[in-house]
Amino acid sequence: MKYDRPLDNELDPIEIASRDEIIDLQTRRMRWTLAHAYHNVPHYRNKFDAHGVHPDDFKELADIARFPFTTKQDLRDTYPFDMFAVPRERVVRVHASSGTTGKPTVVGYTRNDIDNWADLMARSIRAAGGKPGDKVHVSYGYGLFTGGLGAHYGAEKLGCTVIPFGGGQTERQVQLIQDFQPDIIMVTPSYMLAIADEFQRQGIDPSNCTLRIGIHGAEPWTQQMREEIERRFGIEAVDIYGLSEVMGPGVAQECVETKDGPVVWEDHFYAEVIDPVTGAVLPDGEPGELVFTSLTKEALPVIRYRTRDLTRLLPPTARSMKRMGKITGRSDDMLIIRGVNVFPSQIEELILKTPRLSPHYLIEVSREGHLDEMAVKVEMKQEFATAPDADRQASAKELQHHIKSYIGVTTRIEIVDVGGIERSMGKAKRVVDKRPK
Ligand code: DLL
Repeated sequence: MKYDRPLDNELDPIEIASRDEIIDLQTRRMRWTLAHAYHNVPHYRNKFDAHGVHPDDFKELADIARFPFTTKQDLRDTYPFDMFAVPRERVVRVHASSGTTGKPTVVGYTRNDIDNWADLMARSIRAAGGKPGDKVHVSYGYGLFTGGLGAHYGAEKLGCTVIPFGGGQTERQVQLIQDFQPDIIMVTPSYMLAIADEFQRQGIDPSNCTLRIGIHGAEPWTQQMREEIERRFGIEAVDIYGLSEVMGPGVAQECVETKDGPVVWEDHFYAEVIDPVTGAVLPDGEPGELVFTSLTKEALPVIRYRTRDLTRLLPPTARSMKRMGKITGRSDDMLIIRGVNVFPSQIEELILKTPRLSPHYLIEVSREGHLDEMAVKVEMKQEFATAPDADRQASAKELQHHIKSYIGVTTRIEIVDVGGIERSMGKAKRVVDKRPK
């Protein structure tokens, strides 16, 4: 199915405004945000003062580079509620990240923040090809994670019928997709593939289901994984990006008619890409770490929040706003194996280039003596589940060869039985690092 851009009168005017209008709006909103943060959050005031900057120093967008960055550590230091810029009573909802170590990071929303978020999610679903009246099956987790409720409010706002399933119970997910016949599914890409496997296990071809569109995000995924999802379900699979500290899902959304990277909703967020080591702002097109300043958030304004996500900013295409490239990894995801930088997404790309291997994999890093060892455990595709040992070995050799020649590290490849890699219900865990800290 071919998708055209929605009619101009179906879009928010700002989506197709001139660059001058967008820059003017960003400048006004940035000025408000800096003052709001400075005057209402002691933590920001102290940081700005220590840095020798004041909101009045901001005259134009480039001046934002004079302000200090915000990191996850700032949210930990102010745990749970001290980053809020409004009295706690005006906060109508909190979300929190699970956090791998220590305390979670807590984020809060006023009534206006929730409305803006729902608007941006509605805009995102529309950009993905959704329309009022569509049935939307939400398999992102509900709860402290922003995925489920974020998707839910946006789909309702657009005028869709929401099926608030949440993560897990894969057998029932398949049953309800069969029975309720949704048009759209919102789910992490890794769990989407687990749902495809479950369809096949039940003897149903997933491409016969009613789904038209998959809106996937919350974890990095490659172009190869997109092709696999599209092929197996016969749908358009588009990328949605976001993070709780900045809002949740819907900070950026890929348009279905171009599928050329998520459009950053620049009327609500100002994006920069910086050199992750020096902190210098890089020109558009250069890869680096994505940094966001919120422009309208009341409860939790974020100033130059360092996402740790690596990508680049790209010129506008389907809308007037800049796009971002696919996230290639997180700066804290990068493995250094015997001095070579390795991102899990590179391994994933090579696995999917190997015809008989499935996208279910786990990278294990350990240390033998002083040397790092990397092993990749990966399943064969379901249709090759009973392939003879010689075929399994041949696939392992092929992958090992690809990784050696493209990335430059020697790996041990272990082909495991179908189902041998634990399926995620949300964000997939791709790396187990057993090296002593
Ligand atoms: O994952 C919000 C979300 C929910 C986005 C549902 C999309 C769909 P957090 O749990 O705070 O929030 O995790 C944010 O997930 O910094 C990225 O590292 C990663 N991430 C999110 N979307 C993408 C994406 C949600 N499309 C962290 N591609 C971010 C790659 C993504 N990574």
